[in-house]
Amino acid sequence: MNTREDAERILKLRGIRFAYPGENPVLNDLDFDLYRGDRIGLLAPNGSGKTTLFHLIIGLLAPNAGILEIFGNEVTAERDFIAIRRKIGLLFQDADDQLFSPTVMEDVAFGPLNMGKSKDEALAISRRVLSFLGLSAFEDRITFKLSGGEKKLVSLATVLAMEPEVLLLDEPMNGLDHHTRMRLREILESIDLTYIIISHDIDFLIDTTSAIYTMADGRIMKDEQVSIHQHDHAHLFGHVPHKHK
Ligand SMILES: Nc1ncnc2c1ncn2[C@@H]1O[C@H](COP(=O)(O)OP(=O)(O)O)[C@@H](O)[C@H]1O
Ligand SMILES: [Mg+2]
Repeated sequence: MNTREDAERILKLRGIRFAYPGENPVLNDLDFDLYRGDRIGLLAPNGSGKTTLFHLIIGLLAPNAGILEIFGNEVTAERDFIAIRRKIGLLFQDADDQLFSPTVMEDVAFGPLNMGKSKDEALAISRRVLSFLGLSAFEDRITFKLSGGEKKLVSLATVLAMEPEVLLLDEPMNGLDHHTRMRLREILESIDLTYIIISHDIDFLIDTTSAIYTMADGRIMKDEQVSIHQHDHAHLFGHVPHKHK
């Protein structure tokens, strides 16, 4: 039984098919719904189409078949996606795809400025987000000189500065040290946003999401096995399949 209201539905994907030119389909007859308040983990093997799915949702790629409804409207044209990208923030798998300005502050302020905020407003939002992420000291740092983990956090700052309603986080834990992982976990627990997190770290997903999905044969489905899988201890290799009593 589905008691959830259509008004609360953010994404409705039906029969989505996508193939890169000259390749076999990566996504095939894929159905998926995302509702306001959902916190979904997406754990599936490399190459199963997770990143491709995120890129379709924000219109970086267009499906070959199927229907994509976002906030209740079917979207096809690039101009529809411009508004959607302000509400749905994507953290790219590779931070170098996200960051392009000389300094951290310029990168973080770019989104708000682009949305029409004044310079002062953009600066204020950026400072707030950097402070929230513990990155206040990074304002004037040269972006391309940051470490991988630092770039990842600054990327997250650029996404949060857009004040999105939904976050799509593509492997946000990659390259983060233990301390920063803990910090990211706290951040996700403290923000009241709808999100989907792609990660291979099952313990992290269990802590930060309420349902775990997987992908196979071009489709996405709820992973009941993982969802009922209780964790009360840490694993060195959390993503390796294992059984608990
Ligand atoms: N630009 C591209 N051109 C051709 N094939 C691609 C391209 N990007 C990804 N692929 C292929 O599509 C499949 C799905 O990729 P991807 O969505 O990145 O998977 P995941 O994020 O789950 O690891 C992989 O086999 C990958 O090699
Ligand atoms: Mg990927």
